[in-house]
Amino acid sequence: MVEGRVKTEEAEKLIKSALDLIDEKNYSTAQEHVDKAYKIFKEEHFTEGISICLSLISFLDYSEGKYNYEKALAMLQDGAFMATRASSVTAQLINELIFGNIHFAESNKDVAIIHYNNALKLSVEEDKYNLSDTINTRIRQLQNGMDYSLPTKSDPLVSLVKISRSITALTDIDELLRVIAEETKNAIQADRCTVFLWDKDTDELWSKVALGLNSSQEIRFPADKGLAGYVVKSGETLNIVDAYQDPRFNPEVDTKTGYRTKTILCMPIMNNNKEIIGAFQVLNKIDGVFTKNDEDLLIAIGGSASIALENAQLFDQQLQLYREQKLLFESFIDTLATSIDARDKITAGHSTRVRMYSSLLAEAVGMNAKDRSLVEKAAILHDIGKIGIRDSVLQKEGKLTDEEYKHIQEHVRITHNILNKIYMSPDFRIITEMACSHHEKWDGTGYYRHLKGEEITLGGRILAVADVFDAITSKRHYRDKMPIANVLDILMKGAGSHFDKNLVDTFMSISCSKIIRVFLSEYNGQMNPNDEELLKQYDLMSIYRFVNSENLSAESQKVVDLFNHYYLGKSQEEKEQ
Ligand SMILES: [Fe+2]
Repeated sequence: MVEGRVKTEEAEKLIKSALDLIDEKNYSTAQEHVDKAYKIFKEEHFTEGISICLSLISFLDYSEGKYNYEKALAMLQDGAFMATRASSVTAQLINELIFGNIHFAESNKDVAIIHYNNALKLSVEEDKYNLSDTINTRIRQLQNGMDYSLPTKSDPLVSLVKISRSITALTDIDELLRVIAEETKNAIQADRCTVFLWDKDTDELWSKVALGLNSSQEIRFPADKGLAGYVVKSGETLNIVDAYQDPRFNPEVDTKTGYRTKTILCMPIMNNNKEIIGAFQVLNKIDGVFTKNDEDLLIAIGGSASIALENAQLFDQQLQLYREQKLLFESFIDTLATSIDARDKITAGHSTRVRMYSSLLAEAVGMNAKDRSLVEKAAILHDIGKIGIRDSVLQKEGKLTDEEYKHIQEHVRITHNILNKIYMSPDFRIITEMACSHHEKWDGTGYYRHLKGEEITLGGRILAVADVFDAITSKRHYRDKMPIANVLDILMKGAGSHFDKNLVDTFMSISCSKIIRVFLSEYNGQMNPNDEELLKQYDLMSIYRFVNSENLSAESQKVVDLFNHYYLGKSQEEKEQ
């Protein structure tokens, strides 16, 4: 078992026990466990774990009185952002649960229940820490509590504080529009409320309207239509006592829905720069008509709502930008990889196959999807430095002189220099370190920095195994494929000197069918389904044992022959032609 995986598993156990301790309200011990886990996750660059720890720390610091409400929520937002970046359902689930817990503790029950429900939905997808029972219990407690604590009439000031608090925690625009509308409706004692946003690019107003419990629909219309359109264009507030007497009112919606609008309060929402960003439309005051007090309350709500809405829009844009940058970076490294292949015909396809072997090995050692994708990127780029090597040396068939050998070794340093010049976000910087470590050896005799043992990053050690395995299993102009017995012998003999022994052991435990699929990728070859079924049951270690055994059973001989058929197949066919 590889050390990084052991450490991550240990940290996950700490998180599990911290969650139980939080449930028992033993916050100080929970804090110790989370602190330890956080340290490990940071060392291992495990974004999912870091996000989970940020969420838990915010709650624990809040519970112990070290953080006030705002500070805890700010930290929780960071946790939410990292959970999204890690694409981790587990981290999002814990983040929602903690959001719920903090609002629960603040008696902010309506918002707490939204977060608990979100957490519950996520737990259907993945529930690594078995949290669905805890969430269900919380929801039941809340629902029971709500039955007898429901206020008869809300105090406008309390509503205002509640709205400001609940919306600062939300970054999802759809959810924000829903919560603001719901809270405003309750605060103003009206029957309905819709919050419209002004999309200035298309000059449209849009919102989401609830269609039952879990679904909603976007509505969109030109910004000069209807009462909401009128207020965003004019900046005026409309307080209408009888909608059907007002020529600006459009009764079409009522006709369609069967709803009867009577009183309307419609007001623009302004940001800090006094620019109009949308409108409130509140319908049918429960007893009587909308008053001046209602208008004042709506202005106050608009003040907090506009900040939250603008933040959510920024958050959305940032997320979009991040996704675009990621795509750009990925297409960029693919282009770089293609340029290496074009330059070095002898080893065409090498980077792609090293990526495939590295990915198999990373998966086998238990690396998570995010870290695996970093290793894959490093694999694609590992030989990029060959761009700086002279053609006469790079494409030379036959033995290299000492000077030529030294020159070709320079490619790793060049890889380092090139990747160092590319801007990478902190998450991606490890790629450079991995890529330029692929010729380092476990015993410190590699190049170019002569790193040793775990000084070489795990990704670099994985690349070293994958790189050598592909080099010796590939055909060259000047030689045929090396017999598989020799290939596996090189790996086994190099374990503990050239390579990390654990990684060689893990590589040898990969099934033959997975390895053959990489061989076949070279010429889009197919594996017979029956063969695949058989080869799935044997790993490289079995092949190693079989080829080194004196008396081979018929079945074992069949497996070796089949393996060689796919391994040597293409090159043998070529020879026969
Ligand atoms: Fe290399």
